[in-house]
Amino acid sequence: MENNESKINDENNENKENKEIKENKENKDNKGNKEKQGKVKLFNQRFEKVEFLGGGSYGSVYKVELKDKPGEYYALKKFKEYKNNNREGFNVSAIREFTILKELNHENIEKVIDIFYGINCLYIQFEYLECVLSKLTQKEKRAQINITPADIKGIMLQILTGLAEIHDNGILHRDLAPSNILINKNGVVKIADFGLSRFIASPDKPMTRGVVTIFYRAPEILFEAKFYSFAIDVWSAGCILGELLLQKVLFKGSNDIEIMKEIFTLLGIPNENNWPDAVQLKRYKVFKGGPAVTIQKQFAKFPQECRDLLEKMLTLNPNKRITAKEALKHPYFTTEPLPSNKERIAEIVREYIRLRQYANNNKV
Ligand SMILES: Nc1ncnc2c1ncn2[C@@H]1O[C@H](COP(=O)(O)OP(=O)(O)O)[C@@H](O)[C@H]1O
Ligand SMILES: [Mg+2]
Repeated sequence: MENNESKINDENNENKENKEIKENKENKDNKGNKEKQGKVKLFNQRFEKVEFLGGGSYGSVYKVELKDKPGEYYALKKFKEYKNNNREGFNVSAIREFTILKELNHENIEKVIDIFYGINCLYIQFEYLECVLSKLTQKEKRAQINITPADIKGIMLQILTGLAEIHDNGILHRDLAPSNILINKNGVVKIADFGLSRFIASPDKPMTRGVVTIFYRAPEILFEAKFYSFAIDVWSAGCILGELLLQKVLFKGSNDIEIMKEIFTLLGIPNENNWPDAVQLKRYKVFKGGPAVTIQKQFAKFPQECRDLLEKMLTLNPNKRITAKEALKHPYFTTEPLPSNKERIAEIVREYIRLRQYANNNKV
């Protein structure tokens, strides 16, 4: 949930929820209240905060340890209660994140354990995962960790497997980025952060604009298409593959226009031939520029299968873009070097943990 767009948009639900919380506060003998208070107590008795992991305007994510089972860790996402125009409540995205993740039960998707109220806050408890992919993508962060072309393949295979499952369930993630992909100590790669995700809309319902962290935003979102679909997540996954290969963000910029220029420099400017619908989109305009650099040239040192998959994932026209399921069958994954298995990816995570501990111990 890098983006805060999906604030409260379902007032009915919000009011209902607030009413419930208020009623429980007022009526001390209320059974629901007792249950909730019991859970708050349970939380304070059960968890010890170990480390701050991340956060945003909604609240924070902490690593916590079970008090009665030392060594058993979880990630707790804490959502602040907000007060706005005398209204109180929690961002619906917290509830959405929980309900969507409850639907999904797959090895390559982060597991949600529980949801409960704290004092003026709401917690979602997740399994704890030791490493975040954003620490392994860029050169300076990757530092001494050796990540081979086979490792990149192994990581992408797991990401696309998770993504295919998400899409199979009719869900759009809408914020696929290295900071939302986590890896555990057993080498299992998992898609996380469903704060912006949603079930696919009915065909006549326009969708929220401005989703997806800017570097990973698909051209149809940049052009402000009213309707977009699963292809936006495949674009983001393509950007992640490009980033793992080049060890730097593929399309970097500080606003939509800069990102569009970066995309069109590499892939060419959309036109009537390669993407006929584009010209009708709200923010479509003709960008001036020379011939495209092309993926073939930019990624010349990588094998042909790799370039081909990248081209298919980063196809401008969303209707022609490869799907997650099709991508899994691409020859990139069956040609040498074969994708690294979990045992090998677990070694990378162990190395990451070791280097991190070393850095922490040497902090002044
Ligand atoms: N289950 C988890 N295990 C370990 N770290 C996590 C977990 N969930 C989140 N994090 C860390 O917290 C950061 C923020 O969490 P995320 O769910 O992406 O929320 P947001 O991006 O909305 O702040 C992640 O980038 C990651 O570093
Ligand atoms: Mg995130």
